[in-house]
Amino acid sequence: DTVPCGTVGKLLQTGTGLRSGADGVCVFKCLVNKDTEYCRVGKESVLITLGYNSALLQFRSHSEYSTFSNALKNCRNQHKEHSVFSQRTEESSAAQYFQFYGCLSQQQNMMQDFVRTATYHRAILQNHIDFKDKVVLDVGCGSGILSFFAVQAGARKVYAVEASSVAKYAEILVQSNNLSDKISVLSGKIEEISLPENVDVIVSEPMGYMLFNERMLESYLHSKKWLKSNGMMFPTFSDIHLAPFSDEQLYMEHYSRANFWYQQCFYGVNLSSLRNAAVDEYFRQPIVDTFDIRILMARTVKYTVNFTEAAEEDLYRVEIPFVFQVMQSGLIHGLAFWFDVAFVGSLVTVWLSTAPTEPLTHWYQVRCLLQTPLFAKEGETLSGKVLFVANKRQSYDIQIVAVVEETGFKSGNVPFVPDLLGLIPPCYMILTINITLQTWQHQKPCSCVVISVRANEAMLPAM
Ligand SMILES: C[S@@+](CC[C@H](N)C(=O)[O-])C[C@H]1O[C@@H](n2cnc3c(N)ncnc32)[C@H](O)[C@@H]1O
Repeated sequence: DTVPCGTVGKLLQTGTGLRSGADGVCVFKCLVNKDTEYCRVGKESVLITLGYNSALLQFRSHSEYSTFSNALKNCRNQHKEHSVFSQRTEESSAAQYFQFYGCLSQQQNMMQDFVRTATYHRAILQNHIDFKDKVVLDVGCGSGILSFFAVQAGARKVYAVEASSVAKYAEILVQSNNLSDKISVLSGKIEEISLPENVDVIVSEPMGYMLFNERMLESYLHSKKWLKSNGMMFPTFSDIHLAPFSDEQLYMEHYSRANFWYQQCFYGVNLSSLRNAAVDEYFRQPIVDTFDIRILMARTVKYTVNFTEAAEEDLYRVEIPFVFQVMQSGLIHGLAFWFDVAFVGSLVTVWLSTAPTEPLTHWYQVRCLLQTPLFAKEGETLSGKVLFVANKRQSYDIQIVAVVEETGFKSGNVPFVPDLLGLIPPCYMILTINITLQTWQHQKPCSCVVISVRANEAMLPAM
């Protein structure tokens, strides 16, 4: 319980033992704040100083000790100021993010994504030999669903780490499913908690829109500090795909919306001086929805992130160069994105795909519009790059640079963004996009524009 001067830590006696935060009889209660003194005694005890008194708390197992000591660290805000997570995240963004995931309704949304949940279930159970008698870490366990799958596959022990308040519900599910001896729910960020041992397998569902949004992949990669040297990652790698598309209607919809600001007498007020700014804003908004694959103008370009090899720093800045051979003449209105992840097990490799050719998932696909369409003929080459630069709002600033090589065709009415990195020739069309969390969190299925853009912030260095 949070109180103005700190946090009240309670230790409760339940049927299965001592724990914090569950129903039961309170056997110990104290106020903890950043000044609270405590230290570890031996392997499984904690000494807390409370005014003139001290209490020695001895736990029955190392797992109970870890749960308590992680909760204690959280209460004291220990590690918070210096953790990798807090350094790369604005506090307000993290608060909103974990409030979102603290809702059972949001966990339910993900659990009810049949493609997602059933594929994870299949990937884990069909590779049961990778889980049998193994120690598993579930990064961002949410409801704990993947931890339960790991136990179903034979895991000996699962550490289920969750930073949002949904951790308490995961703990309730663990208890009510009589799995307290197998699954330990650890409340806190993966960057800030400690585990009693290294693990054989890490499972997680860290993918956001366009794969990278939310920056949870970095937490997933960070968690490898707890992985044994020959340990496995589920998922193991991801392919992000991109392709140019033609969609006149989508393009015109955006123009019509912006044209609201073209009015010269809106209740007697001339709005037209903001029309260009409105066009910029609308055209910088990535669109999360789905589409018919016939709008795609070329075969996709693929970029792979291997989770077993990548370091979290590799995701601070991701550059994806592309060269497309245009397959039909027409106007290119933007680039479409989606991703697949692969679970490479000892028995089978299972794929989870968010491609427009596959059943729809809650990730949909994402499209970024070019402000001025580029005309290309069949056989011509569209080249350029997409640059993702991480920002402190658990998101990315995105620049798309594209040119039709044969004609040098370029945009005319996109505000020219000076070359951030000295890499972008001036004849290229540039879109600078910042995906923020605030809007996608309120997304309704099949809604169109859900991600907003702040061009100026994209000019700032990411970290
Ligand atoms: C996409 S949900 C997946 C939940 C669950 N694993 C599932 O598959 O249904 C991601 C979860 O990870 C948690 N999370 C995100 N970043 C985290 C971090 N750095 N440490 C711990 N948990 C985190 C979120 O609060 C959220 O509940």
